Amino acid sequence: MELIFATHNENKVKEINKLLPPGYLVKSLTDLKYDAKIEESGSTLEENALIKARTIFNAFKENCFADDSGLEVYALGGKPGVYSARYAGNQKKSEDNTNKILHELQGLNNREAQFRTVIAMVYNKTEYLFEGIIKGKISETPLGQNGFGYDPIFIPEKETLTFSQLTLSEKIKISHRSRAFQKLVEFLKS
Ligand code: IMP
Repeated sequence: MELIFATHNENKVKEINKLLPPGYLVKSLTDLKYDAKIEESGSTLEENALIKARTIFNAFKENCFADDSGLEVYALGGKPGVYSARYAGNQKKSEDNTNKILHELQGLNNREAQFRTVIAMVYNKTEYLFEGIIKGKISETPLGQNGFGYDPIFIPEKETLTFSQLTLSEKIKISHRSRAFQKLVEFLKS
């Protein structure tokens, strides 16, 4: 069974390939030489994931899925959420984004947050959504060298270190994306 993963991010493709049962082959947009920009104009992770999955389904008429993720900080009413990549501006700089969160949380006691991934899948012409969440809190300062995005300021629950201080394999075991992928894989196995 072949499935298209509507992404150009080969790290995400590797991650899902590790979880998939034998017999499934995932092709990325890079494999398919699909370079058109997909406008992520939704106001929720669900909408953006669906926009990407529907666009690719309409282009190739094959089973496919897309993911969208974001950091949701409770004291900020769930921001930056769907705007995580460009929270501090369209230059999409991770350091600016993390500094903006740290600044906004100054003086607030509640530093709880979660990473959330939504996967939208079009499978045999029916749409499905899968969600993965990892709860945690925002650190006082950025710590660690690994990962990307908000990893240096996110301490997952039951940990004392940030995502950036964990190894990639430690992060992948508990990450929002892995949890959503795991649900998709369970669906495909059932
Ligand atoms: P995407 O939907 O996977 O492209 O994620 C959108 C944005 O959310 C990224 O540009 C990051 O700012 C943030 N983000 C998503 N997942 C992670 C993660 O695992 N660690 C840190 N930041 C993340």
